[in-house]
Amino acid sequence: MADNCAVILAGGEGTRMKSQKPKVMAELLFRPMIDHVIAAARAAGINDVCVVTGYKAELLEAHLAGSAETVRQTERLGTGHAVMQAVEFIARHSGANVLILNGDAPFIDSKTVSDALSYHTANGFVQTVISAKVENPYGYGRIVRDKNENFIAITEEASADAETKKINEINSGAMWFRADALLALLPQIKNDNSKGEYYLTDTVSLALASHLRVGAFTADNADAVLGANSRAQLAQLNELLRKKVIARLMDAGVSIPCADGVLIDPGTEIGADTVILPGTIIKEGCKIGSDCVIGPNTVLYKTTVGNGCALNSVQSEEATVKDNANLGPFVHLRPNTVIGEHVHCGNFVEVKNSVVGEHTAVSHLTYVGDSDVGRGVNFGCGVVTVNFNGKTKNRCVIGDDAFIGCNTNLIAPVRVGDRAYTAAGSTITEDVPDDALSIARQRQTNKENWVIKRKPYREKKY
Ligand code: UD1
Ligand code: CA
Repeated sequence: MADNCAVILAGGEGTRMKSQKPKVMAELLFRPMIDHVIAAARAAGINDVCVVTGYKAELLEAHLAGSAETVRQTERLGTGHAVMQAVEFIARHSGANVLILNGDAPFIDSKTVSDALSYHTANGFVQTVISAKVENPYGYGRIVRDKNENFIAITEEASADAETKKINEINSGAMWFRADALLALLPQIKNDNSKGEYYLTDTVSLALASHLRVGAFTADNADAVLGANSRAQLAQLNELLRKKVIARLMDAGVSIPCADGVLIDPGTEIGADTVILPGTIIKEGCKIGSDCVIGPNTVLYKTTVGNGCALNSVQSEEATVKDNANLGPFVHLRPNTVIGEHVHCGNFVEVKNSVVGEHTAVSHLTYVGDSDVGRGVNFGCGVVTVNFNGKTKNRCVIGDDAFIGCNTNLIAPVRVGDRAYTAAGSTITEDVPDDALSIARQRQTNKENWVIKRKPYREKKY
């Protein structure tokens, strides 16, 4: 039998966002809303996802390449019309169930989706609408029930009379269908309403007219319906999600004494007894161990941090930091960097595409790029690995326990041996053997009385 699948509606423009991008690309905690929706579907075990694109379809298709199938809706004729674009995809899932989701409702969660599916199959419904009870139902489709509480229709705001408008149980936009029933119902949808749109919500009364069973599953998570139509609403959703993530982490033993400016991607794992300080932004793809202090003012992206680390004013992208490393203040880790255990980097240090061995110290004003640094190395202040000659990038290799003097330039490719020293101010162009001292600078000459002979003196400023 075919697997269950999901169709996500994402063709709308979202006029009030005043954006050059499709509305579903608006970001919540640095991830487009559509990604949150796809993640919920995947977390509910749905692998086959088809997104209906429309407004600025190319941008959305480029974003989704590799993560979901897409079909284009060339005109915006309503949610029913949007689903009609996906009939081939739905037909491939004949015999299974189809989940319809709104791409602009990022709080839908996998538990609600799974629980609704159990309810749908246990009752043998052809359609199960996920509903929610809300304080302010304005703008939503209302769940209409008869006097026996049987679900009989969804009435859109524009078509609702005064009594119907009072109903506070609303359609979340998420619903399960038997794939074959949906394929039979879609052609029956008409656009004879005040907006001239094909409403997907008409399928409820159409199914009942064909004596098919439909249900409404009321979600515990009323936030599942929340959507963002404007930047102000987006900011509200962002704040709601931000607080949910912070609450979850605190429950897991993470200390966040002041959450000001703390923004953490929902998928982030952080170990117990780690402290997150203000101004810390943790974007997608990060994992942090226990007993760390992260922040203040630290931005991490695709970065793994071990246990017992301190990161103060660190910016890190696509890097790994091992246990007990102490980074900061003011460190930039760039892609493909591995910082070993007990390493210290701080005071304006940049590391890129390099491995830094354990117990190495890079304490001041240093650039380490395209380098393999051993353990126990000491970098003086102002060292530069000169990795780029204008055409190609080359690597520097620095052996264990080496001592790189202040203001050394290491012109790559070059190797400094184990335990070797470079004299301060050296520009090293050739390999330094193990245990050697390399001095590569002009010997100092003092010209006696040079200033007196040079007369006149410089004009005095004081
Ligand atoms: C829809 C529901 C409403 C429900 C609400 C929940 C209908 C007719 N109404 O209303 O009952 O309470 O969602 O938020 O279904 N889209 C397309 N193509 C279109 C039109 C819409 O892809 O032609 C997409 C939008 O991008 C959006 C989703 O479908 O992601 C919902 O469309 P929207 O116009 O926001 O519907 P609502 O008026 O909110
Ligand atoms: Ca909407």
